[in-house]
Amino acid sequence: MAKIAVMGHGVVGSGVVEITLVNGEQLKKRSGETIEVKRILDLRDFPGLSYSNLFTKDFQDIVNDEEISVVCEMMGGVSPAYEFTKACLEKGKSVVTSNKELVAQKGAELLQIAKQNNVNYFFEASVGGGIPIIRPLHQCLAANKIEEITGILNGTTNFILSKMLDDNMPFEEALALAQQKGYAEKDPTADIEGDDACRKICILAALAYGNHIYPKDVHKEGISKLTLADVRYARSWDGEIKLIGRAAPVENGKVTIMVGPMLVPQDNMLSSVDGVFNAVTVKGNMVDKVTFVGRGAGKSPTASAVVADVVDAVKSHGTSISQTWIDNGESMVADYLDDVVAYYMRVKTADVSAAKAYVEQRLPEVEFLDYDGSAEDEIAFVTQPMVARESHTLEQDLEQNGIQPVSKLRILQ
Ligand code: HSE
Repeated sequence: MAKIAVMGHGVVGSGVVEITLVNGEQLKKRSGETIEVKRILDLRDFPGLSYSNLFTKDFQDIVNDEEISVVCEMMGGVSPAYEFTKACLEKGKSVVTSNKELVAQKGAELLQIAKQNNVNYFFEASVGGGIPIIRPLHQCLAANKIEEITGILNGTTNFILSKMLDDNMPFEEALALAQQKGYAEKDPTADIEGDDACRKICILAALAYGNHIYPKDVHKEGISKLTLADVRYARSWDGEIKLIGRAAPVENGKVTIMVGPMLVPQDNMLSSVDGVFNAVTVKGNMVDKVTFVGRGAGKSPTASAVVADVVDAVKSHGTSISQTWIDNGESMVADYLDDVVAYYMRVKTADVSAAKAYVEQRLPEVEFLDYDGSAEDEIAFVTQPMVARESHTLEQDLEQNGIQPVSKLRILQ
């Protein structure tokens, strides 16, 4: 019998308890042992649950219980999740988590502590919700050099974008629905402004390239400035706008990494990933491109990834098998302004034909976009690839010629 504890009885934590109750037989077959939740840590009261006798408000009841071998940390945030995780690992308990903020901040250190204590720190649920991506990346794709990771890594924003575009639902209503469905973070700004996707691409990049990457070093843009006009122009170009996280190695052992809304061409699989679904495309130098798609947020999908980690933690008890990466104190993040990238731009102007003439003369092989009902005082166009830094010079040149840049999005190559 393997006894486990759950810290945090929110959307995912309650899902973990439910899976152990509903799929108990299955878990026994897979792990070789009956898996039983012995304790649940939460400061709130949950009267009326069939397992309300398991709740405690005192972390000591978990960390000092020698019968508990695996702890699921579903608390979110860095503190006290960090202190609790560290204490559990040091007491010889494996910890599994869906807490991407903690893994992105303290992953290198916690993985090291797990190794020193012959236990595991697993975090499959921290990226892509229910999609298996952590294990495939460091196990199934282990023979490859990872040339690029590109993904839709936030279910809330993808859900909001789909609802706005396909159902004409206002932004606020779509966000409220995402919150109601348990997709959004406690503070949904982390979803909307790209912080959540940023943490996830940092975790994937650390796994792929072996060094810790701190979210604070990564350029990020959110979706709050997007308008329906941008989406319509995107569709006129046969593309979709998606919040994309991307990482790829460049020279000197550095990694170019960023998060932002991008124009995704329809022949890229990511363009058709809608709603709460996430997708991650990994390009290996041997396998070429592999894409993983599934529900990126929500109770059962995320909890299923947590419980899969529990099964592995039970099976590997006493052996440290989790992947590690190092934090050598140096940022391996390359300047994103050195990227070479094509742009979509939308600009306002008092004189459309003069603006078009200027843009045509300023940019080689520019492609103008239009859609039925587009505003009369604006133009939109797609550029050829340029060094990202030059796009700022371009914006300044446009302004000096009476053309006001409104939107600028990268095009996913
Ligand atoms: N808020 C996150 C999302 C939850 O929407 O993707 C899953 O990490």
